[in-house]
Amino acid sequence: MRKIGIVTSGGDAPGMNAAIRAVVRTAIPKKMEVIGFKRGYAGLLNNDIRHLGLRTVGGIIHLGGTILRTERCPEFKTDEGIAKAAEVLKENDISALVVIGGDGSFKGASKLRRASGIQMIGIPASIDNDIAGTDTTIGFDTAVNTAVQAIDKIRDTAMSHGRVFIVEVMGRRRGFLALEVGLTVGAEVILVPEVTRDIEDVCDTLIKSRKKEKEYSIIVVAEGFGDSSKLKNEITKRTGFEVRLTILGHIQRGGSPTARSRLIASLFGAYAVDKIVDSDRSGVVGLRDGKLVFNSLDYVTENEKTLDTDLLRLAEELAI
Ligand code: ADP
Ligand code: F6P
Repeated sequence: MRKIGIVTSGGDAPGMNAAIRAVVRTAIPKKMEVIGFKRGYAGLLNNDIRHLGLRTVGGIIHLGGTILRTERCPEFKTDEGIAKAAEVLKENDISALVVIGGDGSFKGASKLRRASGIQMIGIPASIDNDIAGTDTTIGFDTAVNTAVQAIDKIRDTAMSHGRVFIVEVMGRRRGFLALEVGLTVGAEVILVPEVTRDIEDVCDTLIKSRKKEKEYSIIVVAEGFGDSSKLKNEITKRTGFEVRLTILGHIQRGGSPTARSRLIASLFGAYAVDKIVDSDRSGVVGLRDGKLVFNSLDYVTENEKTLDTDLLRLAEELAI
C-alpha cells in the first residue's frame, strides 16, 4: 500500500480543509494510506504526524483555517533543514507529499524533491491569488467576498458623513485581491503594487468625483502599495476632505470558505491524487481557462503571474 503525506504551509486560506478532505477521500479508495504533518514544514521536521482517515476529514468542508495547522518555518530554508525533512519522509515511507500552500511553500517543496527524490504535488492555496500557472487559488474567492461585505458596510457610513474611505486589503506583493475587490465594490480608486500612481493623480480623481456630485469615495488599496496612513494624511492635507482608513487585515484570511473556494479545493485535491496515481512526476495543480492543469514546480516558482490591467481600466471606467 502506498503512503502519502499532506502538509498545509505558509499563510492559511479558507478552503484548505476542503482540499485535505478531497485528497484523503480520493486517495484512500485508491488503496493509499494518508498521513498529515502538522504545523507546516515545522511539523515535518519534527515528525509531528496525524493519521487521516475517511472520518477524520468529516465535517470540515465548511471550516476556515486548517485542521493540520500551519506555520512559517525558517529552519526549512536551510540545507540542513531540507536534508532532515527528506530523512523524515523516508523514515515514514512516504512516496508522495501533497503541499497545500503558496509560492514560498512550493519553493521549499522543489528543494525537498531534489534532496529526497520523492514526488511533490503542490496545491495552490493563498488569499493573494499570486501563484503562477493558475487563474485562481484556494481561498481567494472567500477573501474577495469577505472584503466586499465589509466595504458594503463601510459605504453606509462613508455616505452618511460624506467621507473618503481608504480600505486596505491584503496582498503584500501583488494586487489581485485589491483589483477584484475594488472593481466589485465600485471603488473610485484602486491602488496596487504593480501600477505606480502618484498622490496628485489620486487627489485629482477624488476632487473631480466630488464635482460630479459624488458625495463620498472609496479607495481600495493593496497593503503592498505602501504606507496607507501616510496616504490618508496626504489626501487629507491636499484635498481638505475628511478621510478615514480601515485596514481589513486578517479577517480576510478566516471564515467559512465560499462555495467557489470549496469547489476549487475539491477539484485540486482530487486532481492531485490523480497525478500521484498517473506517474511519479512532481508539479503543481491549477486551473486555466476552466480546465485543470499540471505545471512543473520550476515553472510555478520561477514565474510571476501578471495582473490584468484591462480589468483595472474597466474599474476606472465604471467608477465615472
Ligand atoms: P506561502 O507558501 O504562503 O508563500 P511563505 O513564503 O511564508 O508562505 O513560505 C512558507 C514556508 O515555506 C516558509 O516558512 C519556509 O519554511 C518555506 N519556504 C519558503 N521559501 C523557501 C525557500 N526559498 N526555500 C525553502 N523553503 C522555503
Ligand atoms: O496569505 C498571504 C498574506 O495574506 C499576505 O497578503 C500578508 O501580507 C501576509 O499573508 C500576512 O501573513 P502573516 O500575518 O501570517 O505573516
